Amino acid sequence: MSVHANKEVKKVTTHTLQKMKSVGEKISMITAYDYSFARLFDEAGIDVILVGDSASNVMAGHETTLPITLDQMIYHASSVIRGINRCFVVVDLPFGTYQANSKEALASAIRIMKETGAHAVKLEGGEEVLESVKRIVAAGIPVMGHLGLTPQSIYKFGTYTVRAREEAEANKLRADAKLLEEAGCFGVVLEKIPAQLAREVSESLIIPTIGIGAGMHCDGQVLVMHDMLGINTEFKPRFLRQYLNLYEQIIGAVKNYVHDVKAKDFPNDKEQY
Ligand code: KIV
Repeated sequence: MSVHANKEVKKVTTHTLQKMKSVGEKISMITAYDYSFARLFDEAGIDVILVGDSASNVMAGHETTLPITLDQMIYHASSVIRGINRCFVVVDLPFGTYQANSKEALASAIRIMKETGAHAVKLEGGEEVLESVKRIVAAGIPVMGHLGLTPQSIYKFGTYTVRAREEAEANKLRADAKLLEEAGCFGVVLEKIPAQLAREVSESLIIPTIGIGAGMHCDGQVLVMHDMLGINTEFKPRFLRQYLNLYEQIIGAVKNYVHDVKAKDFPNDKEQY
């Protein structure tokens, strides 16, 4: 329990997430990269905020998630942490900070935990990153896995299409999910895989699965905030439900502001000292 703005709040933990899976309550997760949106999402009742390396795309304008650095992720995550009160915050380990060896992976995870105050880290991959997962977990840091479409490997895949349609890749994903659970992950993101496969994996694991483009049977769902709020309008995959059209609303509001300034209508006599 913590007291914040005179309100007692029960904070979300890895145990809460596990309990939610066991009672069949779905987990809501959304990305955030700054203080103001984190504060809104926390207040709206989101269970988990992911400080995703999608910041590389939506905040920095890069084509892929590869360029974002550990220092930049730490900046985003520490801003998010200052905005939250109840929800659980997971931070992506960016590309190049955990793949070389488990010692480097642990050092990167420790920097995130120490310098941001976040609650967990996420990394992409299965068997290939198992040693790193075990080492980070052994240091007392909760780890979330990420299987299926793993955007840090985009140049290996060549496309952002649905993964694990073929039996061999589906079998590897099934095996990787089990390995991640055995290595101590508290949850796993399943990105852009067939719903039936996600269902099977979700039912076979004790830990919760969080889907993005992985259908209705995952234990929770995650969306990138810019996509679900309609800030990005060009990105319209089938799995995306857009809850707002902020693009249109912001363009409209700023056009009105420009108009009012040019027309000498803003500020008026009540809007000055
Ligand atoms: O970086 C990110 O936003 C993610 C989600 C798409 C799961 O990893």
